[in-house]
Amino acid sequence: MRKLTYFIACSIDGFIGDPSGDATAMLRFVDEEFIDFLKAEYPETMATHGRRALGLDDLPNKRFDTIIQGRGSYDLALKEGITSPYAHLREYVASRSLGASPDQNVEIIADDLVGKVRELKAEDGEFGIYLCGGSQLAGELFDEVDELVIKTYPLVYGEGMPMFGSGCAISEFTLESARTFGNGALVRTYGRKR
Ligand SMILES: NC(=O)c1ccc[n+]([C@@H]2O[C@H](COP(=O)([O-])OP(=O)(O)OC[C@H]3O[C@@H](n4cnc5c(N)ncnc54)[C@H](OP(=O)(O)O)[C@@H]3O)[C@@H](O)[C@H]2O)c1
Repeated sequence: MRKLTYFIACSIDGFIGDPSGDATAMLRFVDEEFIDFLKAEYPETMATHGRRALGLDDLPNKRFDTIIQGRGSYDLALKEGITSPYAHLREYVASRSLGASPDQNVEIIADDLVGKVRELKAEDGEFGIYLCGGSQLAGELFDEVDELVIKTYPLVYGEGMPMFGSGCAISEFTLESARTFGNGALVRTYGRKR
């Protein structure tokens, strides 16, 4: 069984962006030390255009071979004219409104989201599935999430877009690792208690 991992950037108060979802205030904490961490541990979570800008095009995937995004999150790339923001992964975008996929590497999931994710999880393979977000999609897939990797940056938003956009039941997770960074960022990995 492959794991579904919600790998997400958050404020101290648990928001993934401001009320509109804008997460750019967090980018200032993605400094050299943090990029070195991503390069070593999660190179595939960097978008293709970002990897190219850093000269990291050829970094092999370490943990994931598949990504799932909601249309809200995918829209950020589309607005820049980028149709395959994670070209080094198999890309799935949940959307009932997009219709045909704008890119051959991107498969649209319009129906039975949970069923499709269960199918992907049931595939053989050593690599897992990166749940990119955003909030609405993560809420809908909450029961399927096996692991959380939370990049907490030292910011309080006060109000904003929550990690999970829809109601989820109280659920217990086990802390598996925590790493701190010089700039105050903290990355925690939690496994789900089943
Ligand atoms: N901090 C971070 O690390 C991080 C990471 C990712 C995203 N974000 C932020 O999150 C924001 C987007 O989050 P969001 O909650 O607004 O949107 P989202 O979860 O990315 O996407 C929501 C859309 O996904 C589609 N969808 C949801 N459930 C579906 C289902 N069951 N079947 C088919 N399609 C389904 C719908 O698209 P249609 O309307 O097309 O049907 C829905 O409008 C962005 O602003 C981004 O900046 C932050």
